[in-house]
Amino acid sequence: MDDLRLETQHRETKISFGSLSSSFGYAYFDCRTCYLRYIYVKPQNKGLGSMLLNQVENEMRKQGCKQIKLQALPDTVNFYTKNGYSSASWWEDWWDYRPNFLQKTLA
Ligand SMILES: CC(C)(COP(=O)(O)OP(=O)(O)OC[C@H]1O[C@@H](n2cnc3c(N)ncnc32)[C@H](O)[C@@H]1OP(=O)(O)O)[C@@H](O)C(=O)NCCC(=O)NCCS
Repeated sequence: MDDLRLETQHRETKISFGSLSSSFGYAYFDCRTCYLRYIYVKPQNKGLGSMLLNQVENEMRKQGCKQIKLQALPDTVNFYTKNGYSSASWWEDWWDYRPNFLQKTLA
């Protein structure tokens, strides 16, 4: 992952690597709200997602985020849990438990 590209449009930052003909991936996040909107890698289950997530975290930390928030697709909660995320309390209706609302404190 030595060809990381960083672009910012309006509020949103995009990190990407690779190309369609080989392995590739991208992630969109907002450093003002410290919200990770989407991450995608191909191929999957080869550690690329964790590596890209780590780059996202580094960038968000650099931009001043103390914590990352996200809403995971239900079948990806395990991926985030393995990367140190846990159930969040950042949504407004806090009594309405949402197991896929996650957060991680950035050290
Ligand atoms: C979710 C995604 C980014 C994970 O990246 P990845 O490269 O496949 O994941 P990794 O290889 O880094 O996996 C790290 C750990 O999470 C687990 N994991 C990864 N994806 C998982 C999934 N969908 N469900 C359950 N566990 C998953 C792996 O088994 C691995 O566990 P291990 O360390 O015990 O082996 C990737 O699968 C992807 O792009 N999926 C399609 C898009 C998507 O769903 N994005 C998430 C939007 S919220």
